[in-house]
Amino acid sequence: MTEREALDRVYLPGSAETWQPPADEPAIPDALRPPTTGTRRERLQAWRGRHLLREQRAKDTFTNSRNPERGLPVASSSAVGNFLKSLLGNRKPIVVGLLVLHALAAVAGLAVPRILGTLVDSASAGGTAVDTLNALALAVAAVVVLQALLTFAARWISAVFGQDLLAAAREYVVRTVLRLPLSKVEGASTGDLVTRVTRDVGTMSESVRWALPQAVVALVTTVLTLGAMVLNSPLLSLPLLLSVPALAIAVTRYLKRAPAGYITEGSTYSDINTTLTETVEGARTVEALGLQGRRTRLGDADIEVSAQAERYTMSLRNLLFSVIDFAYNSPLVWTLLLGGVGYANGWVSLGQITTAVLYIQAVVAPLDQLVANVDRLQVGVASTTRLLGIAEVPQDREPGEDTPDGVKLTGVDLRFAYREGHDVLHGVDVDLIPGERLAIVGPSGSGKSTLGRLLAGINRPRTGAVTVGGVNLVDLQLDVLRTEVALVTQEHHVFVGTIRDNIVLAREDSPDAAVIEALQAVDAWGWVKRLPDGLGTVVGSGKVKLTPAQAQQIALARLVVADPHTLVLDEATSLIDPRTARHLEGSMSVLLEGRAVVAIAHRLHTAHDADRIAVVIDGRIAELGSHDELVDAGGAYAELWQAWTS
Ligand SMILES: Nc1ncnc2c1ncn2[C@@H]1O[C@H](COP(=O)(O)OP(=O)(O)OP(=O)(O)O)[C@@H](O)[C@H]1O
Ligand SMILES: [Mg+2]
Repeated sequence: MTEREALDRVYLPGSAETWQPPADEPAIPDALRPPTTGTRRERLQAWRGRHLLREQRAKDTFTNSRNPERGLPVASSSAVGNFLKSLLGNRKPIVVGLLVLHALAAVAGLAVPRILGTLVDSASAGGTAVDTLNALALAVAAVVVLQALLTFAARWISAVFGQDLLAAAREYVVRTVLRLPLSKVEGASTGDLVTRVTRDVGTMSESVRWALPQAVVALVTTVLTLGAMVLNSPLLSLPLLLSVPALAIAVTRYLKRAPAGYITEGSTYSDINTTLTETVEGARTVEALGLQGRRTRLGDADIEVSAQAERYTMSLRNLLFSVIDFAYNSPLVWTLLLGGVGYANGWVSLGQITTAVLYIQAVVAPLDQLVANVDRLQVGVASTTRLLGIAEVPQDREPGEDTPDGVKLTGVDLRFAYREGHDVLHGVDVDLIPGERLAIVGPSGSGKSTLGRLLAGINRPRTGAVTVGGVNLVDLQLDVLRTEVALVTQEHHVFVGTIRDNIVLAREDSPDAAVIEALQAVDAWGWVKRLPDGLGTVVGSGKVKLTPAQAQQIALARLVVADPHTLVLDEATSLIDPRTARHLEGSMSVLLEGRAVVAIAHRLHTAHDADRIAVVIDGRIAELGSHDELVDAGGAYAELWQAWTS
């Protein structure tokens, strides 16, 4: 019996089809697994084949990531340049200071081989006074100390500069994430967003703080050293200069391929995190349905895909580094050979050869650093494009300056689709009479919550508009919107902070008296009063834990303080046990008084008490009227009511 048959036996037949992946496709194609037999030649060919296949996969992921069907996009590399420019733009003085100090330190370093060369020449000339030699040795010591001081200052400035940049970048990320349209946050996977704001921020900041300054410094040092070598002896600098093109070719080749590789790597980390968060969040469900094996396999598959992405970038790095090693080490040999010939012919002095060899050895370190940091920068750029991608999500609203004239809420011809081409509301018209209570009832999935979200201005309808006092809800400034209409759902969040902080979110200047009044209105003051620090008690994850019912009361109190004239309650009282719910609804009637209320409810007594009832079926308002009217009409509502009361 296959697993699917087993599942079908336990659950509804065929239900597994709706969520199981089609067939059991392997996570990665077999071609990506190395062969276990074959000659060395065949294996090498197979390796090349795997490398090219990985390259293709990386390219595909890269192309898709620019404009994903769902989820967050990735910005283009040119966006990184602009971002960096804006970051560096208002820090010009420190950037210049940084470069000057590093350049001075590098120049000081370059003096040492030159002096040592002179020392060799003077010593080999014979008959030179000991004083000259001593003076030269002292000069070396002085230069070394000076270089140390300059380097210290340069590093110090780098660190300060880096921390400053990091802070700016972090603030930018937080701002962008907070500006994301709600609909998009819900559409993107949690794992992806979390990976971007943790790993990608870390990688970006690491490359901004270290890789960028080090790369710049290494570049400056390399160029200066090459210049010094040419000054010392053009002939002896030839081997090193000739290896530069080879290096350039290798680095360019690498840079062309690396972005796709690193973007792919990043997205595989997102996938790993997505599966992992899902498994952890749904741990109970996983256990209840015995899905442990499946979840583990999904995790393994993600890791396997990620390993392939890592292998690809690793191969790229290996190819790059082998060229680089060759490019450094061969010039040393050539310079010595050339130096021997040159010395025999009297073209160069022993001192010049010494200096040239010392320079070559001196250039290896910065060159090495340059390449290593170019690599780290690549990783940083990939992460930055993923971060900037968050900012590319189009805003779903552009608040204007209009303020509503009146409190009448009207929805006209509302249609809405979560997926293009699949409307879940089909032209709904609602006219809310100020101060009335409108109940919305209907079967599950008929679009009640969706309608509630449109009426509260959370989502923009695909067609039509919801207006309050003549102004489109989605054109209102968010802080104005929240004091006009508010939505309360079963999902409510308690932020880490004091009870007070949690309640005054919409009107931060509310006095304690108003907060207490709000808590009293929702019947929560009794337990809040008894908390160790009362209003100042810090609650939220990791702090004092509230029960779901308490959290819901806090959400309601938040609403009392926000004081909107229209409320949309989406089964807002359902988590509270029926006795408390009735009680709460009783005390809430004070809050609801004088406001228009749209109550989406499963409990029909809520509907019974309402002024009007809208029955939503299949994304349309099928019936609309008072309880008595609808019962008399003998339609869908009458049937529901009969079933409920019998
Ligand atoms: N985030 C979403 N993405 C895609 N489809 C969605 C999403 N939310 C709801 N839907 C679909 O839209 C339709 C209407 O859903 P909605 O949540 O508005 O129904 P509802 O009447 O509130 O149901 P319930 O009584 O179960 O709360 C359903 O077919 C549902 O599957
Ligand atoms: Mg709903």
